[in-house]
Amino acid sequence: MDGNGRWAKKRMLPRFMGHQKGVKSVKKVVKFCVEQGVDSLTLFAFSTENWKRPKEEVSKLMSLFLNALQKEVIKLNENNVRLNVIGDRSGFSTEIQENILKAEALTENNTGLFLNIAANYGGRWDIFQAMKAWQKQNPTLSIDALNEDALIPFLSLHEQSDPDLLIRTGGEKRVSNFLIWQMAYTEYYFTDELWPDIDESSMQKAVDSFSDRERRFGKTSEQIKTC
Ligand code: IPE
Ligand code: MG
Repeated sequence: MDGNGRWAKKRMLPRFMGHQKGVKSVKKVVKFCVEQGVDSLTLFAFSTENWKRPKEEVSKLMSLFLNALQKEVIKLNENNVRLNVIGDRSGFSTEIQENILKAEALTENNTGLFLNIAANYGGRWDIFQAMKAWQKQNPTLSIDALNEDALIPFLSLHEQSDPDLLIRTGGEKRVSNFLIWQMAYTEYYFTDELWPDIDESSMQKAVDSFSDRERRFGKTSEQIKTC
């Protein structure tokens, strides 16, 4: 979700107002995914690197996060959405941590869209936390016993399929330490639209672009067509 600051700057508004407008886009995108029957949506809300932003911006982002956890979750629950926060929670205030647990508990039995919020998340952090968790659970095994299949159960989102499509808004063409393990075979879609301008029609464009692609997963085009 990139481009909130630029959206605000273009209108001579403080960056915070871009983030506020960005929350509206989150609601539109979640609604789109619920209506389209998407299994899982992961939003990159706050990276491990975002703490380096000015203190005031970080604190406003934290208030928006807390507010969303307290208010928006009620509507998410009514829409059968399961909320799941991925990332290093220990970086957040106790109040935010408690509200994450509450929101997850409230929605845990829902069967609709899996809505993952990546907060204080980084793809490299994810891989290392998985390795540490594997070692903790297998203290007597040597590192030689560690392979891809052994590590996967410890990675974030391991219970969900790997993402089919990555959408990055705001014109930048990079992954910025998002789900680097999980996106090994993901299709990437980049748009110049700024996150606060994203709506249902922007999402439809991304899905249309995805539908036109041939996913070979390392195989040849001929092999895919005969499957
Ligand atoms: C993304 O928008 C929102 C968060 C990181 C929370 P930015 O704040 O990065 O917006 P730009 O890139 O400055 O326009
Ligand atoms: Mg940015």
